[in-house]
Amino acid sequence: MSKVQLTPNTTLYPVPVVLITCGAGDKANLFSLNRIASCNAEPPMISISVRPSRASYDLIDQTGEFVVNIPWPDLEFVSDFVGTTSGRETDKWQETGLTTQTAAVVTPPMLDACPVNLECQVRHTLRLPSHSLFVAEVVALHALPEVLNGRQEVDFQRAGAGLAYQAGVVRERPVNKFRPDELRQQIHRWRDGN
Ligand SMILES: Cc1cc2nc3c(=O)[nH]c(=O)nc-3n(C[C@H](O)[C@H](O)[C@H](O)COP(=O)(O)O)c2cc1C
Repeated sequence: MSKVQLTPNTTLYPVPVVLITCGAGDKANLFSLNRIASCNAEPPMISISVRPSRASYDLIDQTGEFVVNIPWPDLEFVSDFVGTTSGRETDKWQETGLTTQTAAVVTPPMLDACPVNLECQVRHTLRLPSHSLFVAEVVALHALPEVLNGRQEVDFQRAGAGLAYQAGVVRERPVNKFRPDELRQQIHRWRDGN
C-alpha cells in the first residue's frame, strides 16, 4: 500500500511526560515536558528541549540545574495544568498544592507527588531554532521503594510506565482535554482532598 507523505514533524509516540522543577525558593517553578531523552550512560546524562518563551527557560539557563520528576499516570491532569499555565501569571504551587522536598545536590526542589526524581546539572546547551537542548548529567536519583525491582532499579511496570500520552495527535498541548476552567476545578478538588 502506498504511504501518504506528511508535513515533517517529530512523531515518536508514545512519548513520556515529566514534570520539570527549576529555580529556587519563591522563584521555583514547574512545567510539563515531553521532549526528553536519555543520551549518555557513563556518566548518566539526559537531554531536555525547552522553548525560550517558557518562564522556566531562564531559570534553567541561568542556574544550570533542574529536576526531572516522573509522575504517576493518574497525575495527568496536573501535567495538563502546569503545562498550559505559566509561572508568569499563575502561582502553580498555590493552585495545585504540590509540595516539595529539598534535593540532595541541586537547588531546585523535588516534587513529593512523583515517585521518581532525577537531579540534573546542565553540561552542554545547544541553541536550536525553536528550542534549546540542555544536555545534563543526572547527579542524584531518588525513588520510592515500591517502584524498585530486586536489583534496586526503577521498574517502569511498577511505576505504571510513568505518564505517557498515547495519542499521535497530542503534541505539546493536550488539545482534546484542555478545558482551563474544568482543569482548574479538578486541580483544586485534588489539592483540597490531599
Ligand atoms: C504534555 C505537555 C508536554 C510539553 N512538552 C514541552 C517541551 O518538551 N518543551 C517545552 O518547552 N514546553 C513543553 N510544554 C509546554 C510547557 O509545559 C508550557 O508552555 C508551560 O506553560 C510552561 O510553563 P512556564 O511558562 O511556567 O515555564 C509541554 C506541555 C504539555 C502539556
